[in-house]
Amino acid sequence: METKRVTIAEKQAIFRNRTAEVPFYHTEFDGVAFPYLLSEGKAPIYLGGTFKTRQDDVFLVAYPKSGTNWLAYIVDQFAKKIVPNIEGYHGTGAIPFLELNIPGQLDGLPSPRYMYTHFPYHLMPHTNSNGIKYIIIVRNPRDVAVSLFHFKCSLKKIGFNSTWEEYLSLFIKGKVFYGSYFDHILEWWKHKDDDNVLLLKYEDLKKDLTKQVGVIGNFLGYNLSEGESKKIAEKCTFKNMKENRVSSTETNSIKKGKSLYRKGIVGDWRNHFSNEQLKKFNLWCNSHLEGTGLEFDFG
Ligand code: A3P
Repeated sequence: METKRVTIAEKQAIFRNRTAEVPFYHTEFDGVAFPYLLSEGKAPIYLGGTFKTRQDDVFLVAYPKSGTNWLAYIVDQFAKKIVPNIEGYHGTGAIPFLELNIPGQLDGLPSPRYMYTHFPYHLMPHTNSNGIKYIIIVRNPRDVAVSLFHFKCSLKKIGFNSTWEEYLSLFIKGKVFYGSYFDHILEWWKHKDDDNVLLLKYEDLKKDLTKQVGVIGNFLGYNLSEGESKKIAEKCTFKNMKENRVSSTETNSIKKGKSLYRKGIVGDWRNHFSNEQLKKFNLWCNSHLEGTGLEFDFG
């Protein structure tokens, strides 16, 4: 794996902004919008490639709204760590959110470190990457688009007030946090058969969570009995996570009365897309998916 080196000039191009093209507060880096919080001395350090990985690091990766917190909470059950003693800690259970915590503090965590992130492959800190494991979760693009729309509407301080129609065109153009859905997932998809990569689908977790917990456990070197997997699956249901407000995003960044744990189903896109919107969206999807072998269950 190669590390993408970032120049000082590129770093200086990082700014906090809200424009006609990207109508919510963000930090732009390499033509991609990131949550504006990242400009406050945190992610640029990762982006500059100075974050030091360890041979036994485990990264949990997802494009936003694809089940990041769900995956993190499942792994949290294996990891059996205590919540890192980091001031202003951002994470889900004991799993820190890579780009929202300060690298120096993550340096202090005991090995193996588990961290979750929304970074695309090329922005990941890949240094010393031989033994590093990556678990990727992908979700069908229609439900991701819907989930991200509601999430943007429920985030404090980002000044987002686009309609669904306006937003859908931003999503297709990749003018949303972390950039284009397809740029992101297809970069990771290319690595799905690497020995140190496990790629999961949100829809498969919905179908049989106990089975997928076992798959995750195996990949991380835990030999779970079916009973143990089942117990973990029962703890990680949508209902339990919502009731317990799992994740610092839920407690810190969401407007009152809203939740990161919105519906947690496959197929909510049916309640949002008009026929016309779906036609356009499908054309866009097919142009990216052709020849990749990647298929989705739309419920
Ligand atoms: P919806 O908005 O469709 O409800 P992320 O964690 O990447 O931000 O993704 C959030 C999405 O995952 C939300 O989707 C949320 O409800 C869903 N989700 C979170 N935990 C879940 C769980 N235990 N089971 C099913 N879906 C879950």
